[in-house]
Amino acid sequence: MNRLVLAIETSCDETAAAVYSSEKKILSNVLFSQTELHREYGGVIPELASRSHLEKINHIVERALIAANCTLQNIDVVAVTKKPGLPGSLLVGVSFAKGISWVYKKPIIGVDHLEGHIFSSFLEHEQPFPFLCLSASGGHTAVYLVHNFGNFTLLGSTRDDAAGEAFDKIAKLMGLGYPGGPIIEQMAVQAHLKDYFNYPRSTAQSLDFSFSGLKTAVFYDLIARGWYDVAKKEISPSMTLEEKQQVASSLLLCVNDIFVHKLKKALKLHPEVKAISFVGGVACNKFITKNISEFAYDHKLQFATPSPAYCTDNAAMIAFVGNYKADQGLFDDYALDIF
Ligand code: KG4
Ligand code: ZN
Repeated sequence: MNRLVLAIETSCDETAAAVYSSEKKILSNVLFSQTELHREYGGVIPELASRSHLEKINHIVERALIAANCTLQNIDVVAVTKKPGLPGSLLVGVSFAKGISWVYKKPIIGVDHLEGHIFSSFLEHEQPFPFLCLSASGGHTAVYLVHNFGNFTLLGSTRDDAAGEAFDKIAKLMGLGYPGGPIIEQMAVQAHLKDYFNYPRSTAQSLDFSFSGLKTAVFYDLIARGWYDVAKKEISPSMTLEEKQQVASSLLLCVNDIFVHKLKKALKLHPEVKAISFVGGVACNKFITKNISEFAYDHKLQFATPSPAYCTDNAAMIAFVGNYKADQGLFDDYALDIF
């Protein structure tokens, strides 16, 4: 039987809704991004985020239903992101989903946002199990061994900042704007994707990541070169655009090396894997994606990465997880809460 899943995702700064059909896959994927709202602060302001979700959610869910040519009556299951994320933002989505579930008597399923990212590469392509998944965004960076739908082992994660956060914070430091990842990539291309400053690659033996040290290393290097005015707490006007591009390029190459190094390690520990996937907002990065795909092919492994719309936060990936959880009979009740 065809199952229609309505999914809602409000864990951070995107109000998102999607309709997924177990037979026809993604029927709609709608999103309102709050990037403009938070841009002047150089990061997400939780209070502004939850208020904006509250204003937009009704409209976004309605648009997702219209685009999928269905109504709430036709929906079979409501899936909603329950963790991790900003509490106020998560609460808006979970409360809204519970309301729909209650009024229309539809079963509800709470989904872990990180599980959504892990399986986001399945939205467009099939993929063999087991596989290694590198998931990197502004909120998390982790590598998983994925055994099957809903069955995965965390091999390592960041001990401090996420990779996307490092791009965002360093871009902010250089006054480049928000979010930093796409800007850093663009500038790195302009500097021909070369390594100018050889920033330190974290050498931790485990599969954990650490990016706060890298951020600090870039900061001290900017000071040492006279490109950051410590008294004024801003980038010095003497730093040229070309120099900023060189910093961006060196940073991108450093993060890329750290990722490939960790995947190499993970593969040595788990030679049974058949594929590698790269997901999350940072997987929008063409340079890193190309390098990880080459690494996979060199090791005779399949490679998967979602289209950019499914790398960044979206509700389609939450619907996908909701669908297989429904297959497995893993429904929640009204005790469903955030976290
Ligand atoms: O998955 P996502 O939309 O939200 C979180 O769950 O955090 O990821 C956003 C993150 C931001 O840190 C952003 O700078 C980064 O992904 N990002 C990129 C690129 N596009 C987005 N990082 C590197 N290169 C990109 N092209
Ligand atoms: Zn995310």
